Amino acid sequence: MLQFMKSEILKLRIQEITYPLAGVATLKLFPINASLPRYQSGQFLTFIFDHLGPKEIRRSYSLSSAYGVDDHLQITVKQQINGAASTFLTKTAKKGDILTALPPAGQFTLPAAPHQQHYIMLAAGSGITPIFSIIKDLLFHHSNTHIFLIYSNRNEQNIIFKEEISDFLIKYPQRFNCLHLLSDMQGTSHENKTPNLSIKRGRLSNFFLEDWVHKNWNFSLTQTHVYLCGPKGFMLKAVNTLRFMRYPVEQLHQEVYDIISPFKPSVDSLMDSTIYIFRKDQQYQFKLEAGESILDAALKNGIQLPYSCNSGSCTTCSVECIQGTVKMYTQGGPTDSQATKGTVFTCVGYPESDTVVLKL
Ligand SMILES: Cc1cc2nc3c(=O)[nH]c(=O)nc-3n(C[C@H](O)[C@H](O)[C@H](O)COP(=O)(O)OP(=O)(O)OC[C@H]3O[C@@H](n4cnc5c(N)ncnc54)[C@H](O)[C@@H]3O)c2cc1C
Ligand code: FES
Repeated sequence: MLQFMKSEILKLRIQEITYPLAGVATLKLFPINASLPRYQSGQFLTFIFDHLGPKEIRRSYSLSSAYGVDDHLQITVKQQINGAASTFLTKTAKKGDILTALPPAGQFTLPAAPHQQHYIMLAAGSGITPIFSIIKDLLFHHSNTHIFLIYSNRNEQNIIFKEEISDFLIKYPQRFNCLHLLSDMQGTSHENKTPNLSIKRGRLSNFFLEDWVHKNWNFSLTQTHVYLCGPKGFMLKAVNTLRFMRYPVEQLHQEVYDIISPFKPSVDSLMDSTIYIFRKDQQYQFKLEAGESILDAALKNGIQLPYSCNSGSCTTCSVECIQGTVKMYTQGGPTDSQATKGTVFTCVGYPESDTVVLKL
């Protein structure tokens, strides 16, 4: 029998589905028999689907709602061609259906003391979703902040949340600016009366971003946090430019949608271990054989730890290591739990001591 705290699983009823663009669906969700879970803007839900194939699949979708602003949870999904979950959510799912999800998770969230900072938001395509949630939170709850959104899309017809962004520009003209960067201007209306909105043809190149920051951003490096979400190449280019411009790495926040399987270490370099996990008032203990990740060994022993991407990208499986050492093989290369101040991603975590004690 699986050892699992059932109360941690959310059952969410689809209250409404709208289709803002072709192939994109926005789902309003309400928990059944429970109150709205508390969450931070920028976090995501991991949905568990057991009817889309021979095996259960898990997919994460960022919340485009903000706690304390919206009375519901909301996700916005873009269909991937032949994608299992995104096709189901954009084509088949209907009002009244119940979805199963893990509680909100993720570290793409506001910094400590968010009201003392100002924000550059760089989004592309469906990467606007968590950024939209953060913008809402800042505009509604942190009145000293200034926000500039640069939103890249193929053309005007592909802009998700176009109306909502315009509404915020009108409502918060002192604090919110937006530049829509389009690679194709065909069909773009030249009638733009929205305050603080500009629409330009172009892509977010290194030169463009550096030039834009110099000419348009009045706040100092120390006062600026940058949030990025979009395709990998888009984010890499922007982060390299900002690092070159001396923006500290801890002020650059990235949400990665693309999951790439990380390097798996050879069994010879790994060891057997005994793992202890403390979760609230529960305690688990199991043996791990060299070669198994902590997550794999836990699941094999019937302990349902939370997870989603299974590749060290999404942070859903993060726990705290309070004794022993764990080495993690992430896409950025190997790192250990001492370097991460105790944070361990169990899906890519392999023990380096014969006992490891973890807290969930
Ligand atoms: C933290 C996080 C937040 C996210 N938030 C959002 C969000 O807000 N909105 C959003 O739209 N997405 C979001 N995503 C992406 C989302 O989780 C899914 O990855 C995406 O919807 C694709 O899932 P899928 O099941 O539809 O596609 P999959 O079935 O996983 O397929 C993905 C692609 O691979 C191709 N493919 C699948 N199997 C094969 C195969 N055997 N051979 C070749 N090609 C194959 C498919 O054709 C498809 O194009 C997020 C991801 C993360 C990690
Ligand atoms: S499950 Fe995504 S980081 Fe481990």
